[in-house]
Amino acid sequence: MSENIETLQRSTRVIPAPPEMKAQAHIQDYETAYKASIADPEKFWEGIAKELHWFSPWHKVLEWNYPWAKWFLGATCNISYNCLDRHVQTWRRNKVAVIWVGEKGEERIFTYAELYRQVNKCANALKELGLTKGDRVTIYLPKIPEQIVAMLACARIGVIHSVVYSGFSAPALQTRIHDCESKVVITADVGYDRSKTIPLKPVVDEAVANCPTVEKVIVVQRETTSTPIQAPKEINWDDLLKDQSTKCEAEQLDAEDPLYILYTSGTTGKPKGVLHVHGGYMVGTYITTKYVFDLKEEDVFFCVADPGWVTGHSYIVYGPLLNGATILTAEGKPDYPNPGRWWDLIEHYGVSTFYTTPTAIRLLMKYGEDWPAKYDLSSLKILGSVGEPINPEAWEWFHRVTGGTKPIMDTWWQTETGAIMVTPLPCVDLKPGSATRPFLGIEADVTDREGNSIPHGGGFAVIKKPWPSMMRTIYKEPERYLLYWNTIPGVYTAGDVCHKDEDGYMWFMGRADDVVKVAGNRIGTAEVESALVSHKAVVEAAVIGKPHKTAGEMIKAFVILKQGQTESPDLIKELKNHVQQELGKIAAPREIDIVQSLPKTRSGKIMRRVLKAKELGQDPGDISTLDE
Ligand code: PRX
Repeated sequence: MSENIETLQRSTRVIPAPPEMKAQAHIQDYETAYKASIADPEKFWEGIAKELHWFSPWHKVLEWNYPWAKWFLGATCNISYNCLDRHVQTWRRNKVAVIWVGEKGEERIFTYAELYRQVNKCANALKELGLTKGDRVTIYLPKIPEQIVAMLACARIGVIHSVVYSGFSAPALQTRIHDCESKVVITADVGYDRSKTIPLKPVVDEAVANCPTVEKVIVVQRETTSTPIQAPKEINWDDLLKDQSTKCEAEQLDAEDPLYILYTSGTTGKPKGVLHVHGGYMVGTYITTKYVFDLKEEDVFFCVADPGWVTGHSYIVYGPLLNGATILTAEGKPDYPNPGRWWDLIEHYGVSTFYTTPTAIRLLMKYGEDWPAKYDLSSLKILGSVGEPINPEAWEWFHRVTGGTKPIMDTWWQTETGAIMVTPLPCVDLKPGSATRPFLGIEADVTDREGNSIPHGGGFAVIKKPWPSMMRTIYKEPERYLLYWNTIPGVYTAGDVCHKDEDGYMWFMGRADDVVKVAGNRIGTAEVESALVSHKAVVEAAVIGKPHKTAGEMIKAFVILKQGQTESPDLIKELKNHVQQELGKIAAPREIDIVQSLPKTRSGKIMRRVLKAKELGQDPGDISTLDE
């Protein structure tokens, strides 16, 4: 981890929780509720778990064999049952579960009963293909309802889903399919981006060509003119589901049975397969959705994430459906066809909870306040932000254009934590730019390198005790899991630098390791470096994150060329394209500098923080280990 713990400028404004909101909130007094929850976390989590359905009860809440945790031991459950069956057995049967709006303005609405039928059909179809409990399925779909159906169908029969964001390129997809040895890949012919058609099946064709474990590819056909399906390996989604029964009993799974693997970037070139399980993840996502967004029966919950990332898993699919909520999900960009897109959806569907990202807010800020002012946003109750630090200026803008009274929940968490960890609740006083205090049952803190709590000041964000929705391991790489709990003795190290103020409010300031957050997307510098050096002209590369006005951070690469190669604008362009082809558009460097040497330690490790300090004109800190 970097030795530098910078302190960013912080806003001193305090915005008291709106009294009328506090008076009707699920949690009205944070201090009392928090104290009680951490006095006996197992009792707290057990109480929450009892709000959900279990086929058989646990005999022990937690087995903590440091750093390995098991929650709800001996219990059987199924998250898909809790998202669907639990509601279709009640009046919620005909409540709207999902409103989907496509890029071209199409609308599809699923009641809980309809979603249940689709999921059951899909689950039966997957069974027909021979999938059984523990098998893996890769879902590489654009943001369409079939993504949600496929995830819940896998969960229903105990199959582990691995959703891969549809912006990843063929080699990146291949690595992810290969690592978890998926038997089936679910994809679509195309996705859309600002009205451009993005072919997806050719990406899958290329990836699957080198993945011998893949037996079948299921294709959602969105366009009539797309490439024909190559039978027998490829099957059309509609054909496969058409005659399936709408009943498929949810598998009674052990609480610790895996639910999904989600690949995320770390500090090496290989993505990490973060593994979550049915029981604990269900409890964590259920209660955070309910308390953080103060979810009520009549709410419409609009989360702008893509289910390709963890926010989509936890706060489009699982958390809201566990609560029987109505979700709005929309394909496409916030400024297409115009910058009123999301405000229009909020007005049209009467959205009450709007969960978005700092990058999207900063993008919308650029178009000015006239756009939100055109729409009736009075249905909004609670706002949310996630994925990267939100600068006070963006916070204030978001607050102001939505009426100036709606609280913003700045939620800090990670793929690994499964659910929100540090966040305001609607009853908590806010400070723009701070994620405020830990969620109930979570002992988050800021410590020094030795794990000593810092009363106030800068340090490392840590979590001191296990929690139900924590990842259980890194798939096939338990040694990488151990690193989270070994880096600072006795605690889970998040990898973030954080400042704790006099009121115990936490201000997350960015990553302490070699992870860059581009528009909230997590990119490992090592992944980009290895993509660069796979180009024939490159001998060595170093990548840093550099502040960017809209995206928060952007990727900058420093590259040493092989002998005989000459620098040219065309070569730089080619290198950018090469990374895009290897990893995807989100990972392509915005700037590339050709250099003669890179700063290294005597043992040969590239000192990226020295490069970064130089780039930003800052003090590089301790450079005693620098070779030259
Ligand atoms: O650096 C933190 C940042 O995002 C990282 C986790 O990234 P990922 O696993 O992709 O999950 C993103 C969605 C939960 C964290 O280590 N981060 C996330 N939320 C915030 C944040 N940084 C500051 N403030 C936040 N609210």
